[in-house]
Amino acid sequence: MIPFNIPPYIGTELKYVTEAAENHKICGDGPFTKKCNKWLEDRFKAQKVLLTTSGTTALDMAMLLCDIHPGDEVILPSYTFSSTATSAVLAGAKLVFVDIRPDTMNIDEKKIEQAITPKTKVIMAVHYAGVACEMDTIMDIAHRHGLMVIEDAAQAVMSTYKGKALGTIGDFGCYSFHETKNYSMGEGGAIVINNEAYNEKAEILREKGTNRSKFFRGQVDKYTWVDFGDSYLPSELNAAYLWGQLEAADQINNDRLDSWNRYNSAFQKLKEAGKVDLPVVPDGCVHNGHMYYLKCKELQERTALIKFLKSRDVLAVFHYVPLHSAPAGYKFGRFDGEDRYTTSESERLVRLPMYYGLTEQDQKKVIDAVLEFYSKNDLRSVLHK
Ligand SMILES: Cc1ncc(COP(=O)(O)O)c(C=O)c1O
Repeated sequence: MIPFNIPPYIGTELKYVTEAAENHKICGDGPFTKKCNKWLEDRFKAQKVLLTTSGTTALDMAMLLCDIHPGDEVILPSYTFSSTATSAVLAGAKLVFVDIRPDTMNIDEKKIEQAITPKTKVIMAVHYAGVACEMDTIMDIAHRHGLMVIEDAAQAVMSTYKGKALGTIGDFGCYSFHETKNYSMGEGGAIVINNEAYNEKAEILREKGTNRSKFFRGQVDKYTWVDFGDSYLPSELNAAYLWGQLEAADQINNDRLDSWNRYNSAFQKLKEAGKVDLPVVPDGCVHNGHMYYLKCKELQERTALIKFLKSRDVLAVFHYVPLHSAPAGYKFGRFDGEDRYTTSESERLVRLPMYYGLTEQDQKKVIDAVLEFYSKNDLRSVLHK
């Protein structure tokens, strides 16, 4: 069976993990964490980056830094992972879901403004599949209405919008280094702080409400409890593992882009024949090959395709069930305007195997199986098998 995902593994990770262990520094904020933070800051021209225990906790931190009060509203797409929403709910906000664009599956920037009320505090821009939201428009709306912007760039490490790294455009950016992501530390993530004014508060929040970071920099004589906080810093063992992959970031990125481009060329004919839709990367956006998906005609065809691929030893999977249709979505939020594309487009989407090290031979097997499915003249015979 060709798996859907294999966590990235370069080969240097365990050497660095051993180094951390032998140096007797395995709790957070040691040399490997610092190296990762600095690498991310330098590479993405980010004001400040702090590793976190997950993409979810990076989002939690970002939302807490936005100073939400009960009853405040947060605008987000419904087509996203639960973590985007739970960060807002934990901070006490009400969710306002906005429809997506059918081409990128990202929040439809043209529908954001009508969802703004006097209670709106934050817009969350989720860069689906590592392809950027229309950030110029989103930032313009935010500035005109005095709103904060959090980029959920969990899938978008190494992607850019008009030359800027995703995660560095809004007030805060959040990355994930989960094993399903392009770069991994098992469980982990990072918060990007794009406004210096939040640096100290973020450090305190991440370090159990203490000013320990200031103490380590020699800026205070002893550290103490100064505000509310939590523990969001990952172990050095995880950071050491990630460091091996950040060192090889271009190698991983290029490998994924090669696979993505091979899929994309192989399926052009299906698209031209009107059988499927393919991912769209708008002008000015550079993506990171995080995901390759096809869009079938509708749900029934997608179910048949996934089943057919399984019969050919290929594991393909669908993605989010829109949050506004989930039990917690009803409880904590509302959909603003019409659900024109969120449900219908999510039901058509199927993700193909995509990971660092996917061999051309295995990829050909995936491509051939998809082409075989669509070569059946009478699709109904496939659907009823
Ligand atoms: C869009 C999005 N947001 C947030 C997350 C949460 O990241 P993590 O699994 O690192 O907590 C993920 C990943 O699963 C994601 O895809």
